[in-house]
Amino acid sequence: MNFDFSDAQKMIRQTAQEFTERYVAPLAAELDLTGEFPRETFARMAAHGFTGIGIPEEYGGSGGSDIEKVIVVSELAKKCGATAATLSIHMIFPAVILKFGTEEQKKKYLPAMADGGKISAFALTEPNAGSDAAAVKTTALKDGDHYILNGTKCFITGGGQADHVVVFALTDPSKGLKGLSALVVDKGMPGFSIGKIEDKMGIRASETVELIFDNCRVPAENLVGKEGAGFKIAMTALDGARIGVAAQALGIAEGALEETVKYMKERVQFGKPLTALQGLNWYVAEMATKIECARWMTYRAATLKIKGEPYTKEAAMAKYNASETALFVTNLALQIHGGYGYMKDYPLERMMRDAKITQIYEGTSEIHKVVIAREVLK
Ligand code: CAA
Repeated sequence: MNFDFSDAQKMIRQTAQEFTERYVAPLAAELDLTGEFPRETFARMAAHGFTGIGIPEEYGGSGGSDIEKVIVVSELAKKCGATAATLSIHMIFPAVILKFGTEEQKKKYLPAMADGGKISAFALTEPNAGSDAAAVKTTALKDGDHYILNGTKCFITGGGQADHVVVFALTDPSKGLKGLSALVVDKGMPGFSIGKIEDKMGIRASETVELIFDNCRVPAENLVGKEGAGFKIAMTALDGARIGVAAQALGIAEGALEETVKYMKERVQFGKPLTALQGLNWYVAEMATKIECARWMTYRAATLKIKGEPYTKEAAMAKYNASETALFVTNLALQIHGGYGYMKDYPLERMMRDAKITQIYEGTSEIHKVVIAREVLK
């Protein structure tokens, strides 16, 4: 087993580190305050080839794999969870098209996804279909060479900015989850509108919205995969996307530890720097050990995925563990910063708020325990 980065991967990491320091870190606090989607940063990420990671060069992408995705997303998350989330979630749509789309769909959507000219989103969740993803009520009934889409999706990250959204809807409501299908809905299609824009606790600039479909006519050629294959497509997409959330959580935790190390060296109490206090050093040891574990599990899940081996359990474990780690580490990091950590002058309180969502979205920690236990007990 070898988790060493190749020279090319080391270069990507260095590029992502420099990019984050130069373009992401200076904006993080302001984006958190305004909740504005970082469009300019997104365009810059595209120019650096980040949006094309995982998309083959023949479709205009930068190549690379889930390892490179984890490298870039975790580097961004060290300084800004929201910016990392925008990229990580944008990456779900091209992965769905690559795995399940037709050649025409790949040629149509992937080049623009890769160079970032277009932004994408993933719409599964509904007011009554959260953890119970099979309870989707949105319908897409066939009418000649179109589907007529009716329903409401909620908590859709980046949905308001997206040019293309993969939407899960029942093409045959009598069949329950076996009647669920995946369709691409384009911005501006009549009957498609943006509803409530959520005011969130963390990752505030990733823009989370409601999507409303009111007799929205979607061309039949926008069906992804076969009718009725939607639930499997959604679950497969989420398996991959959960590695992305693990990367976000890992990066937030790494960033919080970096801030803590810096602070402990500078901050003097009782006539000594905080690094001279053994009780706090034990906290550092706990944080660093949990981060190391999260790092290995995240790269392990990505490696299995690349090799084409089953990875549902490992992705769920990586996401569950990394998100719990992110909360643990940001909480202790804030504690070590004391009163300063609680103030907005320091990034710790933002990091802790950003970390919280990683335990919730793309499957809660509790759902991940269900997935892990099912796989173990198989
Ligand atoms: N890969 C492929 N197929 C899978 C699968 C997987 N990982 N998991 C399940 N399936 C298949 C099963 O094999 C089964 O197929 P068959 O009937 O042919 O055997 C079918 O799907 C139904 O599976 P289950 O019986 O396991 O389904 P379930 O109703 O018990 O649900 C669940 C399983 C794991 C709890 C699922 O509902 C789940 O993952 N829930 C969480 C949903 C979630 O993560 N939502 C987040 C959405 S995105 C988001 O948060 C934000 C954003 O903006 C992106």
